Amino acid sequence: MIRAKITGTGSAFPDKVLTNCDIEKLVDTSDDWITSRTGIKERRVAVEGEYTSTFASRAAENALQMAGITAAEIDLIIVGTITPDFPFPATACLVQNNLKASKAAAFDVAAACSGFLYGLSVADKFIKTGAAKKALVIGAEVLTRIVDWDDRNTCCLFGDGAGAVVLEAVSGDAGILSTHIHSDGTYWELLHQPGCGSRNPASQKTLDDKQIFLRMQGNEVFKLAVRAMEDAAHEALAANGMTAADLNLFIPHQANRRIIDAIGKRLGVSDEQLFVNLERYGNTSAASIPIALDEANRTGRIKSGDIVLFDAFGGGLTWASALVRW
Ligand code: UT7
Repeated sequence: MIRAKITGTGSAFPDKVLTNCDIEKLVDTSDDWITSRTGIKERRVAVEGEYTSTFASRAAENALQMAGITAAEIDLIIVGTITPDFPFPATACLVQNNLKASKAAAFDVAAACSGFLYGLSVADKFIKTGAAKKALVIGAEVLTRIVDWDDRNTCCLFGDGAGAVVLEAVSGDAGILSTHIHSDGTYWELLHQPGCGSRNPASQKTLDDKQIFLRMQGNEVFKLAVRAMEDAAHEALAANGMTAADLNLFIPHQANRRIIDAIGKRLGVSDEQLFVNLERYGNTSAASIPIALDEANRTGRIKSGDIVLFDAFGGGLTWASALVRW
């Protein structure tokens, strides 16, 4: 049986670090509030001249290097992002150009924080059907460009960066065992960016009304996230005849430590099975899972044959899971 196997991982970030103490100087908040309510201590922030494609391309180069293949061999590039360099062309096309991946088809997936797993699901299908042999799936965001730095409800949450994986068609037991993707558009207003699309095109009014910034009803999103991510994890395990005890590593979307702990508790996952790094990066949306995966991989937390579960939730609403045998 042909499976899509992750043969390389990579990540990339801005050098600039913004700590909770730095945010205390911008809005009425405290390190104590941010740490206790979210688990976040600091985040990376892109500076002038750095874009989503900058980090996406660097993360992809790192993943290609680990896989030991060249960009010219890649058939497909998918970038999960809600902060593309431009409304069009796709950031994936800019990455293709940067990497000189000349034969790759390239497109973006806009599924907010679930964007990487949506992209992984699509690439998995391309590989299983034989339509592609080698693919790059990237999650990349520069969310700090759409954050309202006067809004204490959101400005402390988000960060910038990218993570990438190389997928290759292999025969055998290792690789992606399943992916599941879901959405519920009835909740679209809970987390969205009102301006700069066809509904509210860029204008003086969109600027004055701050429609260019993301808006979130955090409390509502929190409750729905816990429920949906728990369901997605159970769905992935059940589809493969497994339980949480079979997991060597659980890598959830890194939005809030309290969400992660609530899901871990509901699933019965131990601290040793759980991977968390949001204290250093904040919520990087589509980038959060591949960034965490690259760190786990490079620090030896994943061994050959391990069962790894990815679980995401985001605006749309969207949610998704993927189960992998490493
Ligand atoms: O990435 C995918 C989707 N996103 C998420 O999964 C995020 C989900 N939501 C969350 O992580 C949490 O809801 C937040 C961290 C955003 C907020 O935490 P919360 O415990 O749900 O707080 P809250 O929104 O219920 O607000 C509680 C209080 C409010 O004050 P009042 O109205 O009770 O007086 C807020 O104004 O905390 C206040 N508050 C703050 N205080 C200090 C909100 N933000 C801050 C802040 N510093 N930065």
